[in-house]
Amino acid sequence: MAKNESYYLGEKYNLLAKKQGYRSRAAFKLIQIDKEENILKKNSNIIDLGCAPGGWSQVASERLKGTGSIVGIDILRMPRLKDVEFIQCDLRNFDLSQLKTTIDVVISDIAPNISGVSIVDDANMIDLLEIELSIVDKTLVKGGNFLAKCFQGESLEYLIFNLKKRFNSFKRIKPLASRNISKEIYVLGLNKI
Ligand SMILES: C[S@@+](CC[C@H](N)C(=O)[O-])C[C@H]1O[C@@H](n2cnc3c(N)ncnc32)[C@H](O)[C@@H]1O
Repeated sequence: MAKNESYYLGEKYNLLAKKQGYRSRAAFKLIQIDKEENILKKNSNIIDLGCAPGGWSQVASERLKGTGSIVGIDILRMPRLKDVEFIQCDLRNFDLSQLKTTIDVVISDIAPNISGVSIVDDANMIDLLEIELSIVDKTLVKGGNFLAKCFQGESLEYLIFNLKKRFNSFKRIKPLASRNISKEIYVLGLNKI
């Protein structure tokens, strides 16, 4: 896809988010993934890592319809969202003991600030993924699912290597609302062992 085409597709989702009352166009990435994989079920306990400004938490809240629980974590402030408990914190300093140990789904849209230098960006992404995986190990129930963002390249290899050890299967997903020129990709670990 040409650079311009990718830009206009991004803009299309920005407008759609505004129209439909979502706080980010990222919401459409989770809507597509959930439509295909049905990971956000009623009564689930969900953790949303890197949740601000709140698009994914809105989608999760719509699916749960007041059942289960949603905890969102972000280094930035996030305006209140109904049915979402928000913790403002740098994930790298987060005390995992604050979390329940009966989580059904961990969703993460966290990414480090991009420097443009692949080796640096991959290393920073891997540092965050390492923490995400420790949250998965500590809190996610057997049979639970984990959706994570990473970059095509080293961090993707790192994530897949680790998901193979922990989940029955995994899928790589590039949602339509993710710009083609972006290196970001999502991986879904299904059915924790
Ligand atoms: C792409 S945005 C998430 C968008 C969100 N999923 C939505 O739908 O609105 C990535 C988020 O990760 C957060 N983030 C990046 N590094 C972080 C860190 N070390 N600790 C906590 N949050 C972090 C950023 O502040 C940003 O809000």
